[in-house]
Amino acid sequence: MTVAPLPVLDAHDPASLDRAAAILREGGLVAVPTETVYGLAADASNASAVAALYAAKGRPAFNPLIAHVDSLERALTLITLSDAALALTHAFWPGPLTLVGRRKENAAISDLAAAGLDTLAVRWPDAPAMTGLVARLDRPLVAPSANPSGTISPTTAAHVAEGLAGRIAMVLDGGPCTAGVESTIIADTPEGLVLLRPGALPREAIEAVTGAPLKGAGGKAAITAPGMLKSHYAPRARLRLNVTRPEADEIYLAFADHRGSGAKAVLHLSESGDLAEAAANLFSLMRKADQMGERIAVAPIPATGLGEAINDRLTRAAAPKDS
Ligand code: TXA
Ligand code: MG
Repeated sequence: MTVAPLPVLDAHDPASLDRAAAILREGGLVAVPTETVYGLAADASNASAVAALYAAKGRPAFNPLIAHVDSLERALTLITLSDAALALTHAFWPGPLTLVGRRKENAAISDLAAAGLDTLAVRWPDAPAMTGLVARLDRPLVAPSANPSGTISPTTAAHVAEGLAGRIAMVLDGGPCTAGVESTIIADTPEGLVLLRPGALPREAIEAVTGAPLKGAGGKAAITAPGMLKSHYAPRARLRLNVTRPEADEIYLAFADHRGSGAKAVLHLSESGDLAEAAANLFSLMRKADQMGERIAVAPIPATGLGEAINDRLTRAAAPKDS
């Protein structure tokens, strides 16, 4: 079977955004760059568009989506937020922070997008193409990562095409994503703020605003964030973590002083030990390593700052896939 080539348009060109907006208005699917990863966008209020999105990704329908907005005002048409959560929006929006709040009755969101929950995840990304599309439609867009469910998230337009050509209408190419891992997800609950998914906004930055340690991201996260399946970011190759001495048949993802001598090949997450650089390179190098061999070994990555999200993704990638 031949797969039709995926149209790739320049995300910086307003005319491309106009064409993408027209597709979205008719219920089509467009991959859009954000500062975290490429998202697969659909009109959040259109249930058949959302159904097509789940189908294109092969995603379990119980897995709720993030509604992307272009202002705090639009976010507050969708969910209610506590003062503590509002303080986070003032500090970090637009940016790689997703807030889960109580869904408003008249929110412009199909029940399918929210997977029937009475809460909704909302984010205002620092991503002109995504916010430009939301403004053109004057409606929120849902956007999970633009990859088949269970595979490595895309950080370039070429990654999107590898996974989804033939299944979506278009990809807007905005170059490589600057953050490289997904947004940090915080639930705004009656018991306070809870970290559901570590991500591109480090825990320490959030705690500096709230002035208190952030609860969550332990084993319980899987219950409230159904998308946090154990094996979610899986490469085909076997993955070993915290490896200082790789074996001769392993592709080594190196970090700082762990340079992987003796490995079959070495790919550097960050030679200088910069976690932001490592996060930006993570998914791209996991893909590359996956194409180069059957076994991947990864250097130890510190668990602080962006290291929490990097270690979270690596742990999921290393989890057994037979579940
Ligand atoms: O950086 C990102 O967040 C990217 C870009 C494209 O914006 N999007 C993304 O979406 O990572 P996705 O669908 O791959 O991940 C959304 C996560 C899932 O784990 C889902 O379970 C969780 O958010 N989620 C969504 N709605 C939720 C809700 N009401 N309560 C708890 N978790 C929710
Ligand atoms: Mg994803």
